[in-house]
Amino acid sequence: MVCREVSFDEFRNRNIQIVLAPLQGVTTAIFRSVFMSKFGGCRWAVAPFLTTRRGAVPLIPRDLRPESNPTGLALVPQLLGNDGDDFARAGAALHDATGCDEINWNLGCPSGTVTARKQGAGFLPDPQGIDRFLDRVCRRLPCALSIKMRLGMHRDREWEALVPILNRYPIRSVILHGRIGTQGYRGQANLDLFAEFRAALRRPVIHSGDVTSVLGARRVLAKCPDLPGFMLGRGLIANPLLAVSILEGTERSPSEVRAAIWEFHDQLLAAYQRESQEGAVVERMKALFVYWGPKLVPDRSEVEAGRGSEARLVRRTLRATTLGAYLDGVAAIRESGRRADARIAPWRSEN
Ligand SMILES: Cc1cc2nc3c(=O)[nH]c(=O)nc-3n(C[C@H](O)[C@H](O)[C@H](O)COP(=O)(O)O)c2cc1C
Repeated sequence: MVCREVSFDEFRNRNIQIVLAPLQGVTTAIFRSVFMSKFGGCRWAVAPFLTTRRGAVPLIPRDLRPESNPTGLALVPQLLGNDGDDFARAGAALHDATGCDEINWNLGCPSGTVTARKQGAGFLPDPQGIDRFLDRVCRRLPCALSIKMRLGMHRDREWEALVPILNRYPIRSVILHGRIGTQGYRGQANLDLFAEFRAALRRPVIHSGDVTSVLGARRVLAKCPDLPGFMLGRGLIANPLLAVSILEGTERSPSEVRAAIWEFHDQLLAAYQRESQEGAVVERMKALFVYWGPKLVPDRSEVEAGRGSEARLVRRTLRATTLGAYLDGVAAIRESGRRADARIAPWRSEN
């Protein structure tokens, strides 16, 4: 396996694609529009999954329709299911309704209710089933197919039995999240196994999992110098400047990131308030605040350890059930950040 350092210049010049990850309940059409109009850096996005239905087509949500996508970000709908005919039918309906030229297959969802039905990561231990599925889908889908998958469900080498099968089908790209299904989101994504998978698959492989900084992206590129792209999820939510920082090869300071989060927060809140009822607005904002909270307070380690008054403020905000309580929590956190920023001497580097 080739492993070498990647210089910043080389990194800046490479035509790397950054893809916005699907996060159910988080990366909505409103999230995508506000994110792209304020920060950008993503070449395309995969939408959170829709489940296929036996013998029927799924209802196409407004979120996937072109009128909900004013920034024109290329959007790939994602389907979850294990029946090739149902998938091809649903994919054709999505292609007709949205004009998309690619459908992504979710082979990575680790949720117990999904894997118990042999869907998402729960289908990974069945190479023959996957072969039959791909045979049906690749004959009938009227557009390209990509796959988002994990290393396995129970073992981190289940992918080895799948590579020869995947290599036989015209799959546009595979996005690999280097965890196994039973892990959920615990531990770390396995970069060594990602690199092995990438070397074995004769299709473009995009990296997903735990890239939260320019340094993290460089570590992946040092292992896989000709990587076609990164998919960014939680790291991009926690730092809306991450995609542009990676493209430019320059890390942003914590205070720049905090300012960007507040800008994103305020624009998203306004956009959700225009569209949704109060309860739904609070739930949408709290789903984001899980990632923002630790970045918005001056001492992140205290919040992560659950200690101190700022940790209490973040917990209180995440427990809010009314918009008023949510906004009170947010105002207190904003004020404590302002006080801390005022204490930082102008000459002191935050990095
Ligand atoms: C709350 C949440 C919802 C997710 N929803 C989806 C989904 O709908 N489809 C999918 O393929 N992956 C989904 N994922 C996985 C992410 O797309 C991504 O692969 C994973 O979080 C690892 O990347 P990250 O470390 O950059 O976040 C979800 C992850 C989280 C935390």
